[in-house]
Amino acid sequence: MEGYTDVLSAQALPPGALQSVHAGGELVLIANLDGEIHAIGATCTHEQEDLADGEIEDGCVVCPMHFARFSLETGDVIEGPATKPEPVYDVRVEGGRIFVGPRRR
Ligand code: FES
Repeated sequence: MEGYTDVLSAQALPPGALQSVHAGGELVLIANLDGEIHAIGATCTHEQEDLADGEIEDGCVVCPMHFARFSLETGDVIEGPATKPEPVYDVRVEGGRIFVGPRRR
């Protein structure tokens, strides 16, 4: 798969789990939202906390530091204090592995 990076075993990421990985020189958050895999920026746009240490709630990742919420689907800020959205990456699951592709937005 041209342009995709093999980052993780799908088995290592059960529903509700978050993991930050390196792909294409970026730190990317992989999230299993009820069996659907999403990939957005892993570094909080507020004060650079690792979002993998946060939790999934209502389709968002909640930053562990000051509780900003980012949509796992669109990367948008749903609740501050962050104001800048996270980048969103293409993600695929194939042969039991998770692959991160190009940035979508
Ligand atoms: S560092 Fe994430 S909300 Fe402040």
